Amino acid sequence: MSQIELRPGLADVPVAESAVSFIDGKRARLEYRGIAVETLARESSFEETAWLLLRGDLPTQKQLADFDDQLRHRRRIKYKLKDLIKCLPEHGHPMYALQAAVAAMGMFYPSRDITNQQSNWDSAVRLIAKLPTVVAAFHRLRHGDEAITPRDDLDHAGNFYYMLFEREPSPAIRKVIDACLVLHAEHTMNASTFSGRVTGSTLANPYTVISSAIGTLTGPLHGGANEEVLDMLEEIGSVKNTRAWVEDAVVKKKKIMGFGHRVYKVKDPRATVLQELAEHVFAETGQPVLFDIAVEMEKVCEGILGPKGIYPNVDFYSGIIYKALGIPRDLFTPIFAIARVAGWLAHWLEQLQNNRIYRPEQIYVGKQNQAYVALSQRP
Ligand code: CMC
Repeated sequence: MSQIELRPGLADVPVAESAVSFIDGKRARLEYRGIAVETLARESSFEETAWLLLRGDLPTQKQLADFDDQLRHRRRIKYKLKDLIKCLPEHGHPMYALQAAVAAMGMFYPSRDITNQQSNWDSAVRLIAKLPTVVAAFHRLRHGDEAITPRDDLDHAGNFYYMLFEREPSPAIRKVIDACLVLHAEHTMNASTFSGRVTGSTLANPYTVISSAIGTLTGPLHGGANEEVLDMLEEIGSVKNTRAWVEDAVVKKKKIMGFGHRVYKVKDPRATVLQELAEHVFAETGQPVLFDIAVEMEKVCEGILGPKGIYPNVDFYSGIIYKALGIPRDLFTPIFAIARVAGWLAHWLEQLQNNRIYRPEQIYVGKQNQAYVALSQRP
């Protein structure tokens, strides 16, 4: 009998020391490098937040201007990468296209020497700059439209919107997209971040690190939940159906998408900001019934699931906002990735500072000392 205790899902098991972000799940507190995420969402920008995550402190005015300039000039993707994206099945999920394109980037930009800090920085800037271009290109090309060349006179959020729709967003919509990117940029040791750190610990190149994190984000228990929230709200259909639907789901032990979190035992602070932002978007787009259902659902669930510490998480309101902006459902998780790449890269750089390859233990429960029976003697 093994003496090692198994902790399914590595719950409460520390796997690294990290200074990137901090969560207090009881006080609904999330900080990036010590700064509250709500403050960053309201007052900072994605570009500034990405620098903060990567470098540890807020940039000076000059550092931010230079970083912003580097990002703007690295948005374009090679025509061969565009050709590769064009050849991917148009009905495939854009997350798989993103993962494939990022893995392929490692062939265009060989950066195997991860001891070279300049090359690591260049890779980080390139990845943050190019992910929106890859997502928008796949989306356009799958519909038979030309991919739109990025514009370097627009900021990160504005340019992404422009590459999707060939028009500039209104200032309010640009701000909402920017804030969504800030809110999704980092979240301590979640599954995709851990996956990236595990891959990084083998000294793999940064494109492979990010492509493994993207793959991990695809699952419905992680980044994929925001799509399922919309399916669920549509299935409920109206505010008056909400209570009965929730009660039935609880009886059938069905998980309610967009609710629950390993760390937060109160409402996720990002969900609170997103709910506020949703109201700004709806001032322009009109308030969809799905939002009313979501608000009702939150009220109903508070009484039923609240006592178990299950409250709305970041995915509960994000999909409703993106839908109101006209963004297709299967791009919700890629947008999560476009933001989270900043956090993944910050963790990768941190991992390299004091690296040891991850090699956990297992508890063997299989057979032992079995005889090999020759094939000719088996039935
Ligand atoms: N609806 C109903 N019951 C729930 C839910 C939910 N959404 N989440 C957890 N529970 C219950 C679960 O049934 C279990 O009950 P019991 O102890 O009676 O068996 C208990 O709470 C613990 O659940 P768990 O699945 O063991 O908790 P976990 O910490 O392993 O999982 C989670 C966390 C986020 C995977 C889970 O809450 C969940 O599946 N939520 C729905 C999917 C979702 O919204 N995911 C997005 C997460 S936030 C963004 C991100 O990280 O990507």
